[in-house]
Amino acid sequence: MNRDGFGSRLGILAAAAGSAIGLGNIWKFPYIAGENGGAAFILVYLICIFLIGMPVMLSELVIGRKGQSNAVGSFEKVKPNSPWKFTGVLGVGTAFIILSFYSTIAGWIFAYISRAITGKLTTINPGELEGFFGNLISGSFEPVLWQFIVIFITAFIVISGIKKGVEKYSKILMPVLLLLLIVLAIRSVTLEGAYAGLEFLFKPDFSSLSAKGVLEALGHAFFSLSLGMCTLLTYGSYVKKNEKLPSLTLQITLADTFIALLAGIVIFPAVFAYGLSPDSGPNLIFITLPTVFHSMPFGGFFEILFFILIGIAAITSTISLLEVPVAFFTEEFNLSRKKVTVLIAVIIFIIGVPSTLSYGVMKDMTIFGKNFFDLADFTASNILLPIGGLLISLFVGWVWGTRNAIREATNEGKIRFLLSGAYGFVTRFIVPIGILVILFYSTGIIKP
Ligand code: PHE
Repeated sequence: MNRDGFGSRLGILAAAAGSAIGLGNIWKFPYIAGENGGAAFILVYLICIFLIGMPVMLSELVIGRKGQSNAVGSFEKVKPNSPWKFTGVLGVGTAFIILSFYSTIAGWIFAYISRAITGKLTTINPGELEGFFGNLISGSFEPVLWQFIVIFITAFIVISGIKKGVEKYSKILMPVLLLLLIVLAIRSVTLEGAYAGLEFLFKPDFSSLSAKGVLEALGHAFFSLSLGMCTLLTYGSYVKKNEKLPSLTLQITLADTFIALLAGIVIFPAVFAYGLSPDSGPNLIFITLPTVFHSMPFGGFFEILFFILIGIAAITSTISLLEVPVAFFTEEFNLSRKKVTVLIAVIIFIIGVPSTLSYGVMKDMTIFGKNFFDLADFTASNILLPIGGLLISLFVGWVWGTRNAIREATNEGKIRFLLSGAYGFVTRFIVPIGILVILFYSTGIIKP
């Protein structure tokens, strides 16, 4: 069978960066940085990105391209008859969990888009935003409907396949998002009182960083780069043999990190300028951003555009999340892409509804002290993704072998990869030890 694949280098980059850049950058990064005291957390996050995330990303891309198959099939091709394919099974399972709660937030974004377009959001007083947002998310019908719409759109694009679906949409939308963020950043830093926000972002205070914060930084590095659940492994399997994977890895990482920091620069100066609280959690962007928009000329117009762009950034990520189980079930069980996609979408919707209702009727239902949404987010982002990354690195470092991985990364020695030695060493030692130490330390298994 001829597998579908990416058409061009720009297409791959847009799709992979589209996967990485999403609600993780614009919604989650600012709010968890805010909850963990700002700059010190961001520093740890950046270390996790470059020291742990980047090597894991290259490993995923390399396994996928070598295996030319889905999350499970690629491990099987690279190392036949070994238990390592369960890394792929874990990834497929993680995709279900992440999509189930990711679609909740993406649904809120879509609700904001509709309210911005109809003028309901743009005409509201900044003081009323909190109530407005609270009303929206505590409902039982509307947020679930939007969640359904998000999953529906995602499934629709995934059914169209890689070249005509994923690649086509990502290529246009990413650059526009970048531009708009820059405009907003300029507005935000020129507000009176903005300086305190920049200080919060860039002047580290390590006393505000906890062990839990370090785990969140690691988990978020994986989440933001779409690592640890075979998303980039699956995308890697659609990449041509002559593409340069090391430089692709660097470009995706830089793009993702730049957008996250830019989102921080948009949000925190405004938070401080308006006397809002940086640790207000998941609702941060839904209240802060509209406040900024209302303070600028043509704010209503920019507001509509901005929420549309975040919506699109979210969809390019949900597509990549759904692609992991879809590729797995279609290839391993020889089923039709359409049927599989519809079935998985329905299951994800069903497990996703409790997450959405965690802000309404199911607010008081907690498991291990967390509501459904937080439990899904914490388990997937902070536990399953790092474990997935650990397994991927152990596989490349100790089972398949870094020499084989580097051969694939350099297109059989045809291109230069200056950091290949460092990549091998970090993958074998630093990444596994780093992940284990953070996991053990933050879960209390080892004490400082
Ligand atoms: N990286 C995406 C974001 O930041 C989320 C994601 C996680 C996508 C894991 C795919 C896999 O929004």
